[in-house]
Amino acid sequence: MTVGIVGAGQLGRMLALAGYPLGLDFLLLDPAPDAPAGRVAPVLHGPFTDAKLLNELSQRSEVVTFDWENISVDALRALKGETRISPPIPALAAAQDRVSEKKLFERLKIPTTRWHAVGSRTQLTRALREIGLPAVIKTRRLGYDGKGQAVVRTPEDAERAWEQLGKAPLLYEEMIPFDCEVSIIGARSPRGEIAVYPLNGNVHSEGILRLTRAPYGPPRWQRLAASYLERVLAHFRYTGILTIEFFVRGGKLIANEMAPRVHNSGHWTIEGAVTSQFENHLRAILDLPLGSTRPRGFSAMINLIGTLPDRDTILAAGEVHLHDYGKSPRPGRKLGHCTVVEGTAAARDRRARRLLAQLAPGVAIP
Ligand SMILES: Nc1ncnc2c1ncn2[C@@H]1O[C@H](COP(=O)(O)OP(=O)(O)O)[C@@H](O)[C@H]1O
Ligand SMILES: [Mg+2]
Repeated sequence: MTVGIVGAGQLGRMLALAGYPLGLDFLLLDPAPDAPAGRVAPVLHGPFTDAKLLNELSQRSEVVTFDWENISVDALRALKGETRISPPIPALAAAQDRVSEKKLFERLKIPTTRWHAVGSRTQLTRALREIGLPAVIKTRRLGYDGKGQAVVRTPEDAERAWEQLGKAPLLYEEMIPFDCEVSIIGARSPRGEIAVYPLNGNVHSEGILRLTRAPYGPPRWQRLAASYLERVLAHFRYTGILTIEFFVRGGKLIANEMAPRVHNSGHWTIEGAVTSQFENHLRAILDLPLGSTRPRGFSAMINLIGTLPDRDTILAAGEVHLHDYGKSPRPGRKLGHCTVVEGTAAARDRRARRLLAQLAPGVAIP
């Protein structure tokens, strides 16, 4: 049974690695000749919008999924009828545009930031007046790892952000002075089975995820986040893994954005949960029974950004799981991650602090 994946990045690679023990085969599509998943599975090389290649991908696979959310919805729609596409295209479309994402949260009564769509200077002035400062301006589409964003503290900042980003449609939103950030990850299968992971506590630096700890936070946050996630899953009759990121402020969860795919904040589940997010995504899209999301301990996942540390040094620490995605180094690029699983939250935090000092000096745990 072959699973087709549009995108052959590190997420596609970890999906394939999780699927082989289940007897699955993979075929991926990616424009990059050196895409990370190419080391572990066959890749059709060409643009994500190439109708011929997409057709070949769908004809040769049982189900088509994606490891990147900015693929063309139109190109996928053209395939519909010929194959199963999972997660559902409407969920993908909603997640691609920050404005439709905000509208979805509002429609499902999931608290989110106050926001304004900005497509002109007049609208920017109105947003400044109505939402105020400080704020964050983001491109509506194609943003990731903090790219296409500007923090706005003064009207002059807003002017500068407009010069920089204003060629594309924008979202203006209030800046949340959050206590912390969390994300929730869960899977739903066509038969309606749902499996939700323990909450992730996330630390970002310059818009990029640096550290995830899970399980994280009090049971009340877990219940709230899971109930919001389940609303979105039900709304789309969703299939596969879905992630929602939240700001936490004064015990309230405020939805930031969602991702219709396996997520960086869920990488710890490979070693830290009974079933990884990657395996559960595959189980869900193939309508197999979902696996237990029970944590095996207290995990910390640290992203390796820009450069990879010396492999011997990392491994010599013992009990550290290293994941090297096989990508060429570039500033700000996610090249890999490492995970530790400890018996208590305190031991996990101690270990995470030590590893952070070694791998990401300057990133502090609150
Ligand atoms: N409105 C906001 N208030 C406070 N911090 C924000 C806000 N928007 C974004 N950030 C910070 O920037 C990070 C990346 O922004 P996000 O909207 O999640 O975009 P991306 O698609 O790049 O992940 C967030 O995780 C958070 O740390
Ligand atoms: Mg984000």
